[in-house]
Amino acid sequence: MKPQIAVVGSINADLVLQMPKLPGRGETVSSAEPKWFPGGKGANQAVAAARMGGRVSMFGAVGDDEPGQMCLAALAQSGVNTDSVLKVASPTSTAVVMVEDTGENQIVVADGANQHATFDAAQISAADAVLVQFEIPESVIIEVGKAANGIFCVNAAPVREISKELAELIDVLIVNEHEFAQLGNPAFGLVIVTAGSNEVVAYQGGEVVAKSAPPKVEALDTVGAGDTFVGAFIVSYASGQSVADSLERACAASALSTLKLGAQSGMPTSDEVDQFLQSSKN
Ligand code: RIB
Repeated sequence: MKPQIAVVGSINADLVLQMPKLPGRGETVSSAEPKWFPGGKGANQAVAAARMGGRVSMFGAVGDDEPGQMCLAALAQSGVNTDSVLKVASPTSTAVVMVEDTGENQIVVADGANQHATFDAAQISAADAVLVQFEIPESVIIEVGKAANGIFCVNAAPVREISKELAELIDVLIVNEHEFAQLGNPAFGLVIVTAGSNEVVAYQGGEVVAKSAPPKVEALDTVGAGDTFVGAFIVSYASGQSVADSLERACAASALSTLKLGAQSGMPTSDEVDQFLQSSKN
């Protein structure tokens, strides 16, 4: 049975600038032609989860503008239900994404409609898993956590302090190694720590319960790789697969997502991940 996943989070239009090397402080560099892509951690995770076989509903807000239409169209194209996404007077939030030839990136998010993100408590409580990230207000995240009956999964990115009230609601926390360190190595619930192309580690009550090494690929663009990991992990885990198996699928999905430019462009389907895992075992 495909799990029902609710994502409450950001929806951004990403302005992607490719360059040989990211600028240093005070430095000006030239970029290739600017390209617009749908993005935002919430929308990216919703698309990743839908492509991996989840029945996904998105909750958030966009402006009544062209970037908002682009983002909604991309969600719908991947099968995400966008009926509950609000259209508000503020502009759609925009991310300036600088990607250098090594695949490394820097991102600045200009906030807008994400600050008006909202949700429907009845739909949240009916979901098998609920995903949130830190690009929407903390007050909304706490209310979502209270409404959730299924697995409440928090991706603490971009990192900020986790209040005691929120910590008590979290079932699964997913962070990268830098966020983990900045949060003081949190030990509540199931904590999954990603580390780019290095091994992912899952902790329960501070003890290691599973590990997985991402497959090696020639990454073109790592923007959205973390979001792909989160979306893929939650679909497997909410389907009843073990933490170890869910990590393996999420690592494969995340690696595959880096092969195309744009956060959502390379996100694989469940079948593509199956084929990839099968071929890497042969
Ligand atoms: O995680 C990648 C995302 O972060 C980008 O799509 C950008 O919109 C920022 O939110």
